[in-house]
Amino acid sequence: MVTVSTMEPTQLGRYQIIKRLYQGASGLVYEGLDPESHRRVAIKTVDPGRLAEESGQRLVSRLRYEARLFGSFSHPNIVTLYDYHEEEGRPFIVLELLQGETLKKCLERGLSFGWRASVDLIIRMLDAVSYMHTRGVMHLDLKPANMMLLDDDQVKVTDFGIAQRINAPDIWSSITGTPGYMSPEQLMGHRLDPRSDLFSVAVVLYELLTGVQAFPGKQVPGIMQRVLNLSPQPPSQLQPHLPTALDAVLRVALAKQPADRFQDANLFRSALQQVVEGQPVGVVVTH
Ligand SMILES: Nc1ncnc2c1ncn2[C@@H]1O[C@H](COP(=O)(O)OP(=O)(O)O)[C@@H](O)[C@H]1O
Ligand SMILES: [Mg+2]
Repeated sequence: MVTVSTMEPTQLGRYQIIKRLYQGASGLVYEGLDPESHRRVAIKTVDPGRLAEESGQRLVSRLRYEARLFGSFSHPNIVTLYDYHEEEGRPFIVLELLQGETLKKCLERGLSFGWRASVDLIIRMLDAVSYMHTRGVMHLDLKPANMMLLDDDQVKVTDFGIAQRINAPDIWSSITGTPGYMSPEQLMGHRLDPRSDLFSVAVVLYELLTGVQAFPGKQVPGIMQRVLNLSPQPPSQLQPHLPTALDAVLRVALAKQPADRFQDANLFRSALQQVVEGQPVGVVVTH
């Protein structure tokens, strides 16, 4: 018997469905067409087979919240949300269609960027992170799978699926994502602040520079143990051509205690900018 969840819709709201781009544990992403504007879009929705379940209802609330969190954002390095709808209890968000690949896929293909391009990419990610933090939102799931490299070399942060308001009373942390990119405080279930996102960006930078994960492992306990207790080898020991100034930046950015890290995205960004410009890195951690 064909279950509802395996049937592809031909239409959602006014949008025509062109093809499925992604199916995850809880969500689906389609390529769609807005017949009014002839604009191609991406449509993120919940598996209809799960709507009857209690956990499905949580996914609905979560998608609604996701739309509210970044619906008003307008930044070149953050995916743009066009619209949010619910049709017969099925919610969906309409996003700008990103033509490209996730950074995760690029890394899996063994693509290597060179250190200047890697740092440049991370600077653009930090611009996005600074923008969202200024507007009171923490992403909490920054990792290569949620960064899209576009065909025209732009890079955009996607997926506000577990994002939270800074200082929200109900900030929860979750390890439903990929623990190897989460901060120690996030893995421990402690109260989170924006510095958690900066740790995650640093983990991505480490991987771009060295080609290896900062906190590798297949099993969650092993990864947790590394994130909580071990400092990854300085990047220049793995890749001798790297400026040692990057070791210093990453040592700060990957500090276990939030108070020892860069305190905001702009301080992290300036330290990287100094490396690119060849200036001595005065690593400032302002409290
Ligand atoms: N705006 C978009 N344009 C093109 N593809 C997208 C877009 N948003 C998401 N995708 C694809 O769908 C995948 C899952 O989307 P994401 O928002 O990360 O959902 P999840 O919360 O399930 O991880 C992405 O990795 C990407 O391949
Ligand atoms: Mg994702």
